[in-house]
Amino acid sequence: MSRVIVLLLVMMMALNHHTHANKGGRHYRPKDYLRAHNKARARVGVGPLVWNETLAEYARAYAAVRSQDCEMHHSECPYGENLAAGSWQVNAKEAVRMWVDEKHFPKDYLDAHNEARAAVGVGPLVWNEKVAKYAQAYANVRSKDCAMKHSDGPYGENLAAGSWKVSAKEAVKMWVDEKPFVMVALSHHIHAQNRPVDYVDAHNVARATVGVGPLVWNETVAEYARAYTEVRSKDCEMRHSDGPYGENLAAGSWNVSAKEAVDMWLDEEPLYDVETGLCVGGGNACLHYTQNSPQDFVDAHNRARAEVGVAPVGWNATVADYALRYAEKRSGGCELEHSGGPYGENLAEGYGEFSAVDGVGLWVGEKPSYDYASNSCVGGECLHYTQVVWRDSTQLGCARKQCRNGWQFVICSYYPPGNYIGQRPY
Ligand SMILES: *[C@@H]1O[C@H](CO)[C@@H](O)[C@H](O)[C@H]1NC(C)=O
Ligand SMILES: *[C@@H]1O[C@H](CO)[C@@H](O)[C@H](O)[C@H]1NC(C)=O
Ligand SMILES: *[C@@H]1O[C@H](CO)[C@@H](O)[C@H](O)[C@H]1NC(C)=O
Ligand SMILES: *[C@@H]1O[C@H](CO)[C@@H](O)[C@H](O)[C@H]1NC(C)=O
Repeated sequence: MSRVIVLLLVMMMALNHHTHANKGGRHYRPKDYLRAHNKARARVGVGPLVWNETLAEYARAYAAVRSQDCEMHHSECPYGENLAAGSWQVNAKEAVRMWVDEKHFPKDYLDAHNEARAAVGVGPLVWNEKVAKYAQAYANVRSKDCAMKHSDGPYGENLAAGSWKVSAKEAVKMWVDEKPFVMVALSHHIHAQNRPVDYVDAHNVARATVGVGPLVWNETVAEYARAYTEVRSKDCEMRHSDGPYGENLAAGSWNVSAKEAVDMWLDEEPLYDVETGLCVGGGNACLHYTQNSPQDFVDAHNRARAEVGVAPVGWNATVADYALRYAEKRSGGCELEHSGGPYGENLAEGYGEFSAVDGVGLWVGEKPSYDYASNSCVGGECLHYTQVVWRDSTQLGCARKQCRNGWQFVICSYYPPGNYIGQRPY
């Protein structure tokens, strides 16, 4: 029996494929495009591209056509194609970085807005380069601290931030979803309908899983929270009290319990307070919990396993130690290479705040490509998913390690290994 293991290459060239050759000049030399592509390819163990003058000529001609309107339309050409445009002088390196980083384009923002507008019978918005340039400049300013502060500029303005790679669509959804809620809980604080012990327990279970000591109840702080809940119960707005304590807020249109409220924070819901422009709970990243604990890895696997009736996996410290040592070994260049060890192995990488749960989510996201009837992948990769739900792999250990280039390397090792050819996962 041979064990089949696959790599997962995350977020490479998500846009359709090719190059926007424009204008000539020192920013647009072939070797600049090549270097930018080949660096990204090397990082994931893919061989270099070479320049082809026939393709380059085609790209230049199409860039010339589009230079009248600068629209992000594909050329219907016979080649893979990536396009980029910017309100500034985008150079080769920046263009490739946009593709590698899955940056968002005007069309994504427009579509998300116009869908919401159409739903209520309001006509579409159009893109305005001058306004976009203002927004980009302000996003650049704020990228240093990610604070949700308005620019006080001449335009109407919506802001969003997330601890993950927030897409244009997700950002607009946050704004669209802003609806009246019933406030029922203030945390590290209290709602009168739930007992202190419920809040304390829900926090301390989460703290224990990451080795942080328990919180205790403090009646002075609780009194403060109750009083502020009373104030806010008139308008139910998710505004912070600006008081002397750390503060988490939650609200729901149902009778939210203490445990549900804390779960919302632990689930790292993007509780972004549209009123104040602050992340609920303070801080910059709408991050209540990092989602990188052993329990997060285990839970993310067990949710997927439960869906197909497979018994849960448990954490194994020996396996976890192996995973961590390998993640540390890879943290120099973050190469997506298998360890060749004794365990089943799934790998993922992502840039920025890419969490454990994001990594497992990518593997589980392959579920639609697994066809149980034929026990094969259809229309895409599925072997990370089959390892996640492999019935006989009953233990795992995982690690997440930041590489020197800013990427996060995520590894889960499985014992016993799965993905035996000719066997079904469950
Ligand atoms: C360049 O690309 C063209 C079009 O796909 C192909 O026909 C040609 O052989 C390529 N040239 C080289 C040197 O590979
Ligand atoms: C409760 O919190 C208040 C205000 O922060 C503090 O002054 C007091 O000492 C705390 N009480 C206990 C028992 O720790
Ligand atoms: C909400 O739940 C709490 C605790 O479970 C209960 O005491 C309270 O009566 C409920 N409130 C409503 C309006 O249902
Ligand atoms: C953990 O995994 C190792 C395999 O590396 C195995 O030998 C050991 O029995 C496992 N520990 C437990 C508690 O099952």
